[in-house]
Amino acid sequence: MPTRTTIDRLCDHVDSDVTISGWLYNKRGSKKLQFLLVRDGSGICQSIVSLADVGEQTFNVAGAISQESAVEVTGRVNADGRAPGGHELHLSSITVLHESPEYPISPKEHGTDFLLKHRHLWLRSRKQHATIRIRGTVKRAIQDYLDNAGYLNVDAPIFTPSACEGTTTLFKVDYFGDEAYLTQSGQLYNEASAMAHGKVYCFGPSFRAEKSKTRRHLTEFWMVEPEAAYADMEDMIQLSEGMICHIVERILEDRQEELKQLERDPAVLEAIQAPFPRISYDEAVASLQQKGHEIAWGGDFGAPDEVALVNGLQRPLVVHRFPTQIKAFYMQPDPEQPEVVLGFDILAPEGHGEIVGGGQRADSLQYLEQQLNTHNLPQEAFEWFLDLRRYGSVPHAGFGLGLERTVAWMCGTHHVRETIPFPRMLHKIYP
Ligand code: 4AD
Ligand code: MG
Repeated sequence: MPTRTTIDRLCDHVDSDVTISGWLYNKRGSKKLQFLLVRDGSGICQSIVSLADVGEQTFNVAGAISQESAVEVTGRVNADGRAPGGHELHLSSITVLHESPEYPISPKEHGTDFLLKHRHLWLRSRKQHATIRIRGTVKRAIQDYLDNAGYLNVDAPIFTPSACEGTTTLFKVDYFGDEAYLTQSGQLYNEASAMAHGKVYCFGPSFRAEKSKTRRHLTEFWMVEPEAAYADMEDMIQLSEGMICHIVERILEDRQEELKQLERDPAVLEAIQAPFPRISYDEAVASLQQKGHEIAWGGDFGAPDEVALVNGLQRPLVVHRFPTQIKAFYMQPDPEQPEVVLGFDILAPEGHGEIVGGGQRADSLQYLEQQLNTHNLPQEAFEWFLDLRRYGSVPHAGFGLGLERTVAWMCGTHHVRETIPFPRMLHKIYP
């Protein structure tokens, strides 16, 4: 009896007979030999059907199978360094479980609009498959890193009564006649959880009504947000550096095959090591002005500015101490330079943009009340948050790392839309 196994475990069955359940990815053949590429989710395996071995009937079945038909194949495992994945199957039998006539995504090139409309099927394609597996490993690496560092995973709500990151990108929902919003960030809730547990993180979807079409913006994206009591900006810069390096190590360890599929040079990832170079906002503006960029002190960086700042760097860049006026209401002013806050961003190399935003939180009740006012935010909705500054307020800090931008950077993928199974963007919500 052949053993049932999966393609990623073929290495355990060399020279034995196995059965694989999967789908036909692609095929080519001649009058006497067919090469079926069978995929089963865990990998792709070249399966050889020889007329001399299987006889005419099975050979004709193999010849007639259409792309993405569900198949069960049985054969002998052969170790072959030249075969994709290092093993091939010499088939003795094939069963077609379900046919797939005229699969819409053929091996030829398709436009992105077409592929996005068929995202539910596009996910089966090689590069998409590799990207989503890397995403899974990035998530696992983040959780392992934070769990090991003593951070507790505490969830934050999705429906919220207040804005965390400004009111221009809020998604409104009708909440039994009241106005509520989809969360932009779990941070404010993390601050409450950090006062209960010390070190916490939430990891979930965030929503922003981003009205611009860029290669870095989704309306629904995932963010991991650690938050720690009795911590400052420096602690969080170091935590994010450590976390990013851990992600990179895990991808290099566990996802070599996927990097190969994506034609991503591992040497680029190997170069990512802590500490990362740092630059203050003031220095960044001066350097951009020197390069001829039209930016004045107090302005926010645009994508071309970010690209120029990381140009030539192999590691991410930490930019710190931004002007108070361009950052969120909750940031702690720098006591030594009150017009800037103790906030930092991390910019990924190769133009993948800002992957981390974070810093130290304002811990004074009076300052926060004033800030809510300046930012035109309704104090009633934030009363619970202000309680955190009424009852045992302490210095604390945290950050948010965007999952999709990080995955895009790991994979060397141009657009974040390919790094999430079902991307949501301006005017795009199907499938
Ligand atoms: O810089 P942001 O807005 O920071 C916050 O939300 C903080 N409250 C986080 C915290 O301190 N707990 O967002 C953090 C990161 C960005 O650096 C970026 O990687 C990602 O979230 N991000 C997006 N990713 C994809 N599409 C979008 N529209 C994104 N907006 C932010
Ligand atoms: Mg930011």
